[in-house]
Amino acid sequence: MKYLIANWKMNSIDIEEWKNEFEDHYKKFKDSTEIIVCPNFIDLSECSEKFINFNIGAQDVSSHSEGSFTGQISAKQLLGASKRLKYCIVGHSEARSNGDSNLIVREKSEQLRNNKIEPILCIGEAKDVLSKGKRESFLLEQLNSYFETGLYPRLIAYEPIWAIGTGQAADQKNIIEALEIISNFLESKKLEKIPLLYGGSVSTENIEEIMSLSNLAGCLVGNSSLDGKEFARIAQKFRRC
Ligand code: PGA
Repeated sequence: MKYLIANWKMNSIDIEEWKNEFEDHYKKFKDSTEIIVCPNFIDLSECSEKFINFNIGAQDVSSHSEGSFTGQISAKQLLGASKRLKYCIVGHSEARSNGDSNLIVREKSEQLRNNKIEPILCIGEAKDVLSKGKRESFLLEQLNSYFETGLYPRLIAYEPIWAIGTGQAADQKNIIEALEIISNFLESKKLEKIPLLYGGSVSTENIEEIMSLSNLAGCLVGNSSLDGKEFARIAQKFRRC
């Protein structure tokens, strides 16, 4: 199975228009490709109703189950908004830069587990970590912290912060090296079945090159998923990879 994720972040999307554009340019849905759309909270319900061929994911969840947490949304409430919700992103660098520590990422995942929502764990280093040669220890710290309490993400996305939203995806060498670090870690835990994804400026231009890497089970797409036509083109190429 291969996974293609659209992360719409906090962008306003005309869902009906996006759907029409997508369907005009993507004809066949194949069993071996899972497309997952992650809209923001208020669009979850509409997306669940309209995107019957997709799986639906949330972008974030509270680390608490209930109570006085102004502005937060619990895992149970996510399910209330979308009966078809299957996934939720945790550990995205944009949430980490907003205060999500490794501990909070884990607490959020515990909430997801309690509500049978599958976590998509994002990990990735900043430019200075990479240039100081500290990527391996950085990624291992993120992984160790997550796995130490027996939590298992359904998918892991390697998303180097220096490639996100820049229009310049990571080069093959860097992706291969990072995937190897993650694979070795998973192997040591006998969890090598967890699929690995890449995210960071994935586009129609680079999707085939990126997906040519062995070990890679899919991609997480931000900016290039905002337009239904563009995302359909990516999906079209993706399913042939
Ligand atoms: P991008 O975002 O494709 O716009 O780089 C990817 C992500 O942040 O998940």
